Amino acid sequence: MASYDLVVIGTGPGGYVCAIRAAQLGMKVAVVEKNATLGGTCLNVGCMPSKALLHASEMFEEAAHSFAKMGVSVSAPKLDLPAMMNFKQQGIDGNVKGVEFLMKKNKIDVLKGTGKILGAGKVEVSGDGKTETVETRNIVIATGSDIARLKGIEIDEKRIVSSTGALSLEKVPSSLLIVGAGVIGLELGSVWHRLGAKVTVVEFLDRILPGMDGEVAKQFQRMLEKQGFTFKLGAKVTAVDTSGKTLQAKVEPAAGGAAETIEADVVLVCIGRVPYTEGLGLKEAGVALDNRGRVEIDAHFSTNVKGIYAIGDVVAGPMLAHKAEDEGVACAEIIAGQAGHVNYDVIPGVVYTTPEVSSVGKTEEELKQAGVAYTVGKFPFTANGRSKVNQTTDGLVKVLADAKTDRVLGVHIVGREAGEMIHEACVLMEFGGSAEDLARTCHAHPTRSEAIKEASLAVGKRAIHM
Ligand code: FAD
Ligand code: NAI
Repeated sequence: MASYDLVVIGTGPGGYVCAIRAAQLGMKVAVVEKNATLGGTCLNVGCMPSKALLHASEMFEEAAHSFAKMGVSVSAPKLDLPAMMNFKQQGIDGNVKGVEFLMKKNKIDVLKGTGKILGAGKVEVSGDGKTETVETRNIVIATGSDIARLKGIEIDEKRIVSSTGALSLEKVPSSLLIVGAGVIGLELGSVWHRLGAKVTVVEFLDRILPGMDGEVAKQFQRMLEKQGFTFKLGAKVTAVDTSGKTLQAKVEPAAGGAAETIEADVVLVCIGRVPYTEGLGLKEAGVALDNRGRVEIDAHFSTNVKGIYAIGDVVAGPMLAHKAEDEGVACAEIIAGQAGHVNYDVIPGVVYTTPEVSSVGKTEEELKQAGVAYTVGKFPFTANGRSKVNQTTDGLVKVLADAKTDRVLGVHIVGREAGEMIHEACVLMEFGGSAEDLARTCHAHPTRSEAIKEASLAVGKRAIHM
């Protein structure tokens, strides 16, 4: 029987990164993957394909609407959807092969099949009609998450789709109804809207992007409406009639009341994701779950069973690839006897739309609720030189700092390239820096990042360009 120091179940960003770090630390490692390709949700049906389509559809939109005003005259772009899907697939393949290469480079065994924990120290792998059992000193559960479903609305991945189906539609729907104004709804809604679909988003709450700063979300909503999105907030879809040529969705106010019917070619259900532990044998192995079905862990990623750990989407916390990766590294280091650690106060979140939305640390609502005295500095991109010359002035930077110590507690950005810009705030916050530190850091001119410096100056009421 093969024997390892560590067997990681699942090869998403959490699992494969954990395996690499453990191998770097001298462990003999195997990963178990039931999917035909490595890389998990993120590489196969998540982050990567969605970003490829966001990029391609943005280029399509720019060619159609922005080139001419810059004096670049081209004939109206034509959409070749199969070619765009091929571009997406090439991106997936490249990244998946990259993970395969990294497994080989780090001498990590890849065991293809479904992993089942038979108890501490034993994992059964079954696939292709074969079953083998391997011995291991440690197990890391990195099995990720699955789509959350709406009761009574069956996803067929053709007309009623989850994010997976929405990444592979065969033609542009003339109308797309999206259930849930979260990250997936707004990103994939943007893709299909740019390619020509009429997009309506039904959201249960009275705001979009719950969890993001309220002011930033409100501004972002207005920008999306200007692009052509329709939002129905405080509403829910209770049924979808699939009998006709077009789908008929029944939409009711969240608090109850008169229903209306909205017609759509395609309905995208994206109301969150749920931890995935099916077939893992956790019950038999005695591994405890919390009340939301997530694997329960302590501060060191250890489950209640010694030698079994868990990381990523299958445990509590934001369901983000970089959070899973950082947990993978920390968990491997802890298993190796080192002091691995994740700072959950500094995990950025990005929505990769146009413009982008990014965020790190506390929102204004969270600070208010916690009774923390804070100061705010804001700077709009309309006053940023680079944004002006590029005519991409939508959005703002908002810096929240502790009123007494000036320590930065949160940074929120809506605007082009916001996803790249957020990281200087992350580094600053990792070092416990202040708004004054940011304000006194020389920023290259002309860059959009100068808006972060100006927003930090604005905390002390001394922005220069406003
Ligand atoms: P996963 O990536 O879900 O990987 C789990 C793996 O475990 C899978 O490969 C699965 O096949 C395997 N597995 C499960 N059970 C078993 C078993 N019993 N035996 C063997 N293998 C098993 N996050 C971001 O940070 N940025 C983004 O831009 C982003 N975009 C997204 C877009 C979409 C459309 C979606 C759906 C998600 C997106 N996410 C994004 C979220 C991101 O994909 C997840 O947070 C991330 O993949 C979690 O990583 P993980 O390693 O925990 O699990
Ligand atoms: P989400 O949690 O971001 O948003 C779900 C939305 O649906 C919420 O606004 C919620 O209020 C709403 N909702 C819930 N039930 C509803 C109902 N019955 N009717 C109407 N609205 C309802 O989840 P989403 O968008 O499905 O994404 C899943 C996960 O994937 C997220 O946790 C996210 O972090 C991750 N992801 C991250 C991305 C990124 O980092 N750029 C991109 C895509 C996904």
